[in-house]
Amino acid sequence: MPEPLFRFPEGFRWGVAVSSHQVEGNNRNNNWWAWEQQEGRIKEGHRSGLACDWWRNAEADFDRAAEMGLNALRLSVEWSRIEPRPGEFDSNALERCAEMLRGLCQRQIEPMVTLHHFSDPLWLSDRGGWENPQTIALFARFARQVVEALQPYCDLWYTVNEPNVYGYSGYLEGTFPPGKSELKAAMTVIRHMVEGHAAAYREIHTLQPQARVGLCPNLRILEAANPRSPVDRLLAGIADRAFNRTILTALSQGRWTFPLGRGPADDVQNTLDWIGLNYYTRDLIAFDRRQSQALFSRRLHAAAAELLDGGYGEFYPLGMYRFLQQLAALDLPIYVTENGIPDQDDDQRPRYLLAHLHQVWRGLQAGWPIRGYYHWTLVDNFEWDDGWTLRFGLIAMDPQTQARTPRRSAGLYSEITGANAISREMVSAEAPELLAEPRAVGPQTTAS
Ligand code: FCB
Repeated sequence: MPEPLFRFPEGFRWGVAVSSHQVEGNNRNNNWWAWEQQEGRIKEGHRSGLACDWWRNAEADFDRAAEMGLNALRLSVEWSRIEPRPGEFDSNALERCAEMLRGLCQRQIEPMVTLHHFSDPLWLSDRGGWENPQTIALFARFARQVVEALQPYCDLWYTVNEPNVYGYSGYLEGTFPPGKSELKAAMTVIRHMVEGHAAAYREIHTLQPQARVGLCPNLRILEAANPRSPVDRLLAGIADRAFNRTILTALSQGRWTFPLGRGPADDVQNTLDWIGLNYYTRDLIAFDRRQSQALFSRRLHAAAAELLDGGYGEFYPLGMYRFLQQLAALDLPIYVTENGIPDQDDDQRPRYLLAHLHQVWRGLQAGWPIRGYYHWTLVDNFEWDDGWTLRFGLIAMDPQTQARTPRRSAGLYSEITGANAISREMVSAEAPELLAEPRAVGPQTTAS
C-alpha cells in the first residue's frame, strides 16, 4: 500500500476541463471557425477540424476519464449549435448535450457546464458580439434555454470563461477574433461579460434555486522583474490589477475599478455561489522605453526559471497557493477549474501536476474551502491561436488519425485519484524536492 504523503479530503472533486470548440469538431457556425479560415491567424495554419470528435463521440473519452478514476468533468455548451440563428433554439443540439451529461452521470462523473467558453455564434459577432450591450440579454436568454434543458443532469454552472483573456486577446492583443487593438473596446467587452454573467446568474437561480453558479478570470502571477525598481513595481502592480483583480473587485465589492471603469457595480455584486481559479504560470514585468503601446512594459522570465513549452510562461507552483490565498478571502467555495501545462513529451507534466497539487493541499491545510481540481486537459485539443502546437493532454491525440495514447501523467493522475492522495513513492519518483516540504502547514492569514 503506497504511503499517503499529502491526503485530500473525502469527496474531493478530481476532474478535467475542456471546452466545446476545442473538442467537439465541426463547429462551423462560430467566430473561431471563420477566424481559422483566415491566413496567418492560427500558428502553422492549423484548424480545429474534427477536433477531438466529441460531438459524435465524447463518450469514448468519458470512458477514459472514468477509467482514470475521475469524478468530475467540466465541459462547455456551444452557443452556435444551440442557437444557430437568433431566437431559434435547436432541440436536437440540446438533446445531444443532455445525452452527454447523462453519459457522465452514468459514469459517476459530476458535470460542470460552462455556458460560454470563447466561441460566439456568427450571427452574434455580426451584431458586434460582446461589444454590443444587447449581448447581455441575449446571453441570459441563451442561459435560460440551456438550463431548462439540462437541469435534470447538472446544477454546477460556470457562466463565462475568463472574460479577461477573451477581452484582452480579442480586443487588445488581436490574437483572438475579432483581432482588434483598442483598449476601450477590450474594457467594454469585459464589463459586458461580467454583466452577462450576473444576468445569467439570476436566470439560472429562477429556474433552479439550488444551482451553484460561478466563474473565474484567468489569473497569472505578474510581478516586478526587478523588485528593487520602483518603475518595475509600478508597472507590475498596474498589470496585476488590470488582469487579475478588476473583475473580482466588481463581483465581490460591487465597484468598477481602473481600467474597467469607475463607480458602482451593484448589479453584479453577490452573483457568485463559488469562485474558480484558472492558474497556469507566472510572468515578470520590466520597464522598457521602446514598448510605448504596452504601457512601456515588457514581459520576461526569471533567469533561473524553468520555462514551459512554446513560451507559455514559468513553472511556478507557488502561484497556485498565492491565488488560492487571495480567493479564500472571498469566503466562497473554491474550485481550481483549470491548471495544466503544454508538454508534448510529458517530461515536465508529472512534476507540474504534483507540485501544483501540493500547493492545493497546502491551501486545504490552511482551512480554505477548496472543493476540487480540474486538470486542463484530458486529451490534446485545439489550442485557439496556438492550434495544435501546444499539447496539454494527459492523453496524447493525433488529430490526423484521432489515435489516443495515454501519457505517463495520465497514469500518475489515476494513481492520485485512486488514492485520494499523493504518495511518498510518487513524490520520490517525480518531484523529490517536495519531500523537503513541511508535512503540515498551519492556518494562514488570508490576504485581502
Ligand atoms: C485557458 C483557456 C482554455 C485553454 C487553456 C490552455 O486560458 O480557458 O480554453 O486554452 O487556457
